[in-house]
Amino acid sequence: MTILVTGGAGFIGSNFVLDWFEGSTEPVVNLDKLTYAGNLQNLAALEGNPNHHFVQGDFGDAALVAQLLAQYQPRAIVNFAAESHVDRSIHGPADFIHTNIVGTFNLLECVRSYWGAMDATGKEAFRFLHVSTDEVYGSLAKDDPAFTEHHRYEPNSPYSASKAASDHLVRAYHHTYGLPVLTTNCSNNYGPFHFPEKLIPLMIVNAQAGKPLPVYGDGQQIRDWLYVKDHCSAIRRVLQAGTVGEVYNVGGWNEKPNLEIVHTVCALLDELKPRADGKPYQEQITYVTDRPGHDRRYAIDARKLEQELGWKPAETFETGIRKTVQWYLDNPEWVRNVQSGGYRDWIGKQYGEHSGEHKALDKVAV
Ligand code: NAD
Ligand code: DAU
Repeated sequence: MTILVTGGAGFIGSNFVLDWFEGSTEPVVNLDKLTYAGNLQNLAALEGNPNHHFVQGDFGDAALVAQLLAQYQPRAIVNFAAESHVDRSIHGPADFIHTNIVGTFNLLECVRSYWGAMDATGKEAFRFLHVSTDEVYGSLAKDDPAFTEHHRYEPNSPYSASKAASDHLVRAYHHTYGLPVLTTNCSNNYGPFHFPEKLIPLMIVNAQAGKPLPVYGDGQQIRDWLYVKDHCSAIRRVLQAGTVGEVYNVGGWNEKPNLEIVHTVCALLDELKPRADGKPYQEQITYVTDRPGHDRRYAIDARKLEQELGWKPAETFETGIRKTVQWYLDNPEWVRNVQSGGYRDWIGKQYGEHSGEHKALDKVAV
């Protein structure tokens, strides 16, 4: 038995593969294009593991995927591969359309043909698990109930629209062709190997570098945070016991405004690695121009997953964020290595910094 994972060198994918081998010897074929977000260092602990087969390539490359499916005969596919950063989708949506929509479509076509040729037992047991996001549901008002699996799709960014399109394709391949699919829609993850373009790792990295901590708008946007290993355990559980064709929302019941997240990170750094001048890190908080179309609030109702499949997160936000900050403090080399030229270009484009020095950030008063 083997599974094929796409995007397994990214943040969640690499955590998933590492977790997988903590509890299983079932081989994993890990197909990742190694875009700026993919990093083989995340998988360094698997060096020499004969059950981990890393393949650098595009999940939308039909010939390559067909060859891998024929060679390894996986019993399941877990599809993480995507462009994942909302701000990048605002600067340049084309990659998101190409990867998240066309790439997923190409993958589905290959899988349809592979699955169609299986015998009845193989067909019955096969699963295609598509990893998606709560952002497809759009934005909630302050007192709205959390997103259930029946919430209408109302994606607001090019990223979320492209993920929504991919979810619809996955759904359609089940309804039209009978492909045994499962979809998970998860809230914001955080934890080890999170690329420092996203809020939590960016704050940890900037704080230590003495740089501004850029908070968009008034910082009162709410996200529902889940420790990445809990997302991984949810995916494993859905893969194992989810009902074919069903959607499962995954969340940590941890709704927090961004500003509170930033204050928490600052307080942990004050405790674990105080500033040389003894001042609090929160002095570095800088309010900057808001993200265009910024969704105000996400919240996941994860009761279906809990009640039907018995899944619950293991971490609270307090335990998870402490582990996360500590991980970044313990892994300065990983951080240094991902801060390549491409990373610096992005930070310059998004925040107006250049060559590590601050040009005027587009600051706003709150
Ligand atoms: P990430 O950007 O860290 O990693 C994406 C990975 O996909 C990278 O390793 C990249 O190299 C790879 N990739 C990109 N294009 C590819 C292609 N054409 N072929 C093969 N590999 C390709 O993203 P992440 O945060 O780990 O997210 C993984 C998945 O989970 C995405 O589908 C995302 O939409 C979803 N998701 C993310 C979060 C979150 O908070 N990060 C929450 C819910 C859902
Ligand atoms: O909800 C799930 C989604 O969470 C995933 O589908 C996405 O792939 C993932 O990137 C994440 O999207 P967000 O846009 O919520 O994450 P991000 O870390 O970019 O931003 C979190 C919040 O923090 C958001 O409200 C924007 C804000 N923010 C972000 C950055 C990078 C800031 O205030 N300042 C920043 O510099």
